[in-house]
Formats: sequence, structure tokens, C-alpha cells
Amino acid sequence: MFYISPTLTLLMLTPYVSNRLTGSPWRDDESSTGVTLCIAHCSSVQCITTGGHKVYEKVGNVLKLARKEAIASGIFFGTTGWSGNVTLLALLAYGGTLVSRGTISVGDLTSLLLYTVYVGSGLQMLTVFFSSIMRGIGAGVRIFELLDRTPAIPPDVGADVDSSRRGPIRFERISFEYPSRKGVQILKDLDFEVAIGESVAIVGQSGSGKSSINALLMRYYDPVRGKITFDGQDIREFKPSSWRHIIGVVPQDPVLFTGTIASNIAYGNEDATREQIEAAAREANCEFVWGMPQGFDTEIGRLSLSGGQRQRLAIARALLKKPAILALDEATSSLDATSEHRVNDAIDKILRSRQTTCIIVAHRLSTIARAERIVVLEDGHITESGTYRQLVNKKDSRFRTLMAAQLNAAAGESLIYKPPEPSLKAGREREEDL
Ligand SMILES: Nc1ncnc2c1ncn2[C@@H]1O[C@H](COP(=O)(O)OP(=O)(O)O)[C@@H](O)[C@H]1O
Ligand SMILES: [Mg+2]
Repeated sequence: MFYISPTLTLLMLTPYVSNRLTGSPWRDDESSTGVTLCIAHCSSVQCITTGGHKVYEKVGNVLKLARKEAIASGIFFGTTGWSGNVTLLALLAYGGTLVSRGTISVGDLTSLLLYTVYVGSGLQMLTVFFSSIMRGIGAGVRIFELLDRTPAIPPDVGADVDSSRRGPIRFERISFEYPSRKGVQILKDLDFEVAIGESVAIVGQSGSGKSSINALLMRYYDPVRGKITFDGQDIREFKPSSWRHIIGVVPQDPVLFTGTIASNIAYGNEDATREQIEAAAREANCEFVWGMPQGFDTEIGRLSLSGGQRQRLAIARALLKKPAILALDEATSSLDATSEHRVNDAIDKILRSRQTTCIIVAHRLSTIARAERIVVLEDGHITESGTYRQLVNKKDSRFRTLMAAQLNAAAGESLIYKPPEPSLKAGREREEDL
């Protein structure tokens, strides 16, 4: 085009060079995130705000952004379209005079006009592409921010832990505060040991730091003072990803992923065979899976199972790893009596095998009583420790005070209460007591 007529080519390019989209409102993706959250937790939002005001507010923000974008792109595409047409007219007019002067031929002018149309639409496409990129950047900014953060505890630095390694876990004079709440000590001089294959229940009031102990064990955080040792070695020497692999965790509200039941149990254990998955499900009392039309191939969503079923799937997922340590964090606290019984039964089976060290954070007496030892956590340290029998029989024990309501209810129900099989020493002791 420059070869045919540099003047006409420059004339054609002027409007595209001067028009540049400098930003996109979608860079501010806060409102769209808010809407996503509101929609994902629709029922909670509805019952908390009784009218979904927050949703309307967020939707309003998104609408404002959409309007801003519509106006910006309207102005942009309107002006580029308009200037494109004006350019063509100018080319025709000025080109016509050049043809009449004999500077260029009619053929040259025609091809220049055709080029202009092609180049113009190409540039227009480029600008659409540019605005899509701006949208992408807007949506990706936060993800890149997260990816750029260097973790305080790098997951892949340290020594590998052999998955068959077994050993006692020792919390040695641990003091801990969350980095986001400096100065508030959650654990103070916490000191206790869990032997190989032993089961220890941690009890304490809500907010006493039970889950924080699990967080330290999983190395989501490091203690401010003191150390946790496994088989005599400080867990800070282990590669966190490898250390976490030997721990099975069952949280209070387990997360399921969209996919089949089998893929959910095998999550994080992709090499597991169908036999291993079924064995873990059997061990975790997931008998409901066999009753489903497609069994282990049944597709499930995030919340398409009951609390007790999700809990048992989470236990199966943890057991599939054949963990050296099993950490249960209030695995039965939100379950109905039947589900609680099934989950407790599953826990019993694990405790009976005596191959897994269990740290059980629990509220329910029926779960706590299954542990061989109970430690009471108060003000960030252990105030009492002993077997269920010792603590229940001890007059004015902290455990009795904490569990008063449940102990009274259990005493009232003792005539109809059927304890689990007395396979464990602790189980036997509890049976005598209730
Ligand atoms: N991520 C966190 N950041 C700051 N403080 C936290 C965090 N998680 C828990 N806490 C605080 O630590 C204390 C102990 O919490 P937690 O260990 O969850 O108690 P529990 O499991 O016994 O109910 C609470 O006061 C809680 O507010
Ligand atoms: Mg907790």
C-alpha cells in the first residue's frame, strides 16, 4: 500500500493509530467474584440476609461495570466504524484527484480501497482481541498474585518421609500464634506425646486451639517456640508434601469434588486400584455406595451426599493412603445419631487394627470414649490427661465439667445405651462406666 501511495496509506492509518482502548472495566473483578460467592452459597445468603440485599448490591456493581464496558466499547467501535467510513470517503475523494492528475491509475486506487477494507477489518479484529485480553488479565490478576506469592513453608523442600515409617509423635513445649494475629497466643507450652498406634482424643471448648494442633501437625504453620517430632525427628526437616502424604485427615466438613465416588475416594491417590478403593470404602463403612445404581461409578456433586456419607467417604479417602497418622477433626460433631454410629463404627475398626496413630478432636462423648487416652486442652495447654475411666471417675475433673451435659444424658440413657463392641481397652472401661 505504501508502494502504491504513501500519502493515501498514512491517511488510511490515522484513525486506527489514534484510537486505542486503554483499559477494561473488567480489570476490577471484585464484584464478579462477590456475585460468584453469593450464588455458590445461595442458601446461606438467603437465610442470613433474608432478602439477598448483598446479592443485589453485588449484581448492581456488576451491572455498573457491564454498562461502563458497553459504553466504552460503543464509543470505541462507533468511532472506529465511523472513522473507517470517513477514511474510505476521503480516500475516494483525494484518490480521485490523484487519478485525475495522473499520479496514480484507477486500478491503483481500486486496489488501495480494497486493501483499506481488508486492513481495516483486520485491525478491528485486533482491537476486539485486545479487549478480550484485557478481560483475561482482569480475571487473572488475582490468580497471578497468588501464584507469585512465595509460601512461608515451601512444600518441596526437605527430606522425604518413607511412607512405611512409624514412630511416636511428640509435641514439645509448643507455643503458637497465627501470623495474622500476632501477640495472641493460641497454644502455650503445649506438651504431649502420642505413641505408635495409640489413639488420643483432644477435648476442649470451642476456640481452645484443637484444630490449630492439627494445623501445626500438617505443617500449615510452624510453631513460634518448641517443636513437633515424629520418630524423634523434627517435622520441619521433612519435605511438607511428603510428610502430609503419611497423614490422613478427616475434617469436620469434608470437601467432595464433582466426579465419581471412586475418583473422590482416590483423590490424591490416583494410582489406587478399584480393589483398594473398595477395600477402603468397606473399612470406612461406606456400604451405601453398593446400594447406588452405578455403585462406585455414580457421579456425585459437591453436596449431593448426606453429612454422614460425606464423612465416611472422607474416612475412606484418608484410609486409602494407609496413613501412619490419622487426624480426625470433629468428624462426628454435626451428624445425626445413625450417621454418628456408622462413623464411630468406622473409627473403631481403625483403632482396632492398631497400626495407625490417631489424633481425634471430638465433641461427642461416643467418639471421645473410643480413644485410649484423652487430653483436655484449656488456655492453650493440656490441663488433664488420662483414660476415659480415670477422667470420669476423678471427682471435679476438668473433663467432667466440660462433658457434664453429655455425661448426665449418657447416665440417664445408660439403660438403653448400647456401647460398641468392647474391642479396645478404652471401650471396655467406658462400658463399665456408662
Ligand atoms: N487462620 C486463623 N487465623 C487467625 N486466628 C485463627 C485462625 N484459625 C483459628 N484462629 C483462632 O485460634 C483460636 C483457636 O482456634 P481453633 O484451633 O480453630 O479452635 P478449636 O478447633 O478448638 O475450636 C480461635 O480463637 C480462633 O479464632
Ligand atoms: Mg476446630
